[in-house]
Amino acid sequence: MVRGAKSMVAPPALPFVGHALALRRNPLRFFAEIRSYGDIVPIRLGPAKAYVVNTPDLMREVLVVQARNFDKGVQVEKARAFLGNGLVSSDGDYHRRQRRLVQPAFRASRIPGYGRIMSDVVTRHVSAWQDGQVLAVDQELNKLTLTIVAKTMFATDFSMETAMEIRDAMRPVLAGVTRRMMAPFGVLTKLPTPESRRFNSCIRRLHEIIDRVITQYRASGEDHGDLLSMMLLARDREDATGMTDLQLRDEVMAVLFAGSETVANSVAWTFHVLGANPEIEHRLHAEVDGVVNGRTPQYEDLPQLPYTRRVFTEALRMYGPPWMLSRRTTAEIELGGVRIPAGASVLFSPNSMQRDPAIYPDPDTFDPDRWLGNEIKTAAKCTYLPFSAGNRQCIGDSYAWVSSVTILGGICSRWRLTPAPGSRVRPTIALTLVPSELPMKLHRRQDTGAPPRPAAGGRAPDAGEDVQDTANNHGSHGTCPVTGRMSQ
Ligand code: HEM
Repeated sequence: MVRGAKSMVAPPALPFVGHALALRRNPLRFFAEIRSYGDIVPIRLGPAKAYVVNTPDLMREVLVVQARNFDKGVQVEKARAFLGNGLVSSDGDYHRRQRRLVQPAFRASRIPGYGRIMSDVVTRHVSAWQDGQVLAVDQELNKLTLTIVAKTMFATDFSMETAMEIRDAMRPVLAGVTRRMMAPFGVLTKLPTPESRRFNSCIRRLHEIIDRVITQYRASGEDHGDLLSMMLLARDREDATGMTDLQLRDEVMAVLFAGSETVANSVAWTFHVLGANPEIEHRLHAEVDGVVNGRTPQYEDLPQLPYTRRVFTEALRMYGPPWMLSRRTTAEIELGGVRIPAGASVLFSPNSMQRDPAIYPDPDTFDPDRWLGNEIKTAAKCTYLPFSAGNRQCIGDSYAWVSSVTILGGICSRWRLTPAPGSRVRPTIALTLVPSELPMKLHRRQDTGAPPRPAAGGRAPDAGEDVQDTANNHGSHGTCPVTGRMSQ
């Protein structure tokens, strides 16, 4: 079948299971191969028909243009039972109202405050590392990002201990929710196994902590500069009401769930590619040394780290968390000239699209410089979708950029990470794209002796071409210094 034809021809399928086995066994290969069948390809997942969408135009149609004709479908319905009805798992009018109420917590004016907390957490965390130690970098980053998201959620004094408690309870919950969302038969996860008991007790513990903090915050009425304060203060512009305690708890759970592993895995992949590309690593180290010289970047330093940002942009292109996004039609629709009935699943893989050679030449080469001056264009055309797009676009994208570049800069200014001998890192599929393992050896970096550049208005070493990026990304007037995006 010729690429680009709006085909309705399906690839060969097995009896009964259809394409479900191929999709489950190796989803990345499945999505790469199915591209050659056309723009929109019908498949069968057991008895149910689904449609795979292969072009950025059609992805845009689903995520943006016809967004109101879709909900998030079965997987998030499963998540709702454990996570509650927060942004990740709610739909329709309820989701729209909640999104309006949560949005102010992620407004550009709040991000510098979170940036300060992030820098502080990163500094404490990496100071405990030992020269020569082999670290499970993926797990270490999971701990670090959970601490960051917990601390930016609750930034009051008691919070380091509470953040640790949340972190420890959240880890089995993240793994357990993923397992339950991906399980084809719900009954297996309902058995009273030790894992289920631990999972349920961690969820209860999280609810207790969150409810307790909400009560304290309501009583004080203060703005602590954290995510929860802003969620508590938010009032709906239509009816001037705020969130109930239960709604707040659901939204806290949603942010803890969506905001930790995604960053951890993306940064983990970045270290994986840096380990394989010493020249790129060297350039990134040189940039970081010139700006922060041995310390963790502060929010104000971030516009001076354009190469670090490009490295992360490229890591997200190749290894972004959303290996698959799915939606379900709420009405009969027409998509790319094909009629799709109500209740059908529509699937696509941002990762696979971001490795399409027709869109990204030489797509398997890690080349941060392909992003020089390109970001805005790709966002508009939906050819770069690590944060999705439209009404369900990641609400924490600016937060995520600041957090990721702070972590990368904070680690690279002190440590060089090299792959541990014998490690074999493969992409594995959970809700996000996870490295199978990531053991890396730590080498304390020598002080380069390079004088740090001034805190603002400085240039990166490769400034000539980067000026455009940095100029776009200055943190004034409500724009994020890393993404350059205006606050919503
Ligand atoms: C590199 C890091 C991250 C990536 C790649 C990422 C990616 C995504 C994607 C792809 C979605 C939309 C899924 C869909 O369209 O079905 C999403 C939603 C969401 N993300 Fe992120 N995310 C990241 C970090 C964060 C952080 C740090 C937070 C919060 C602190 C966060 C909070 C959320 C929430 C609450 C949603 C649901 C939004 C809604 O449906 O209205 N994410 N994220």
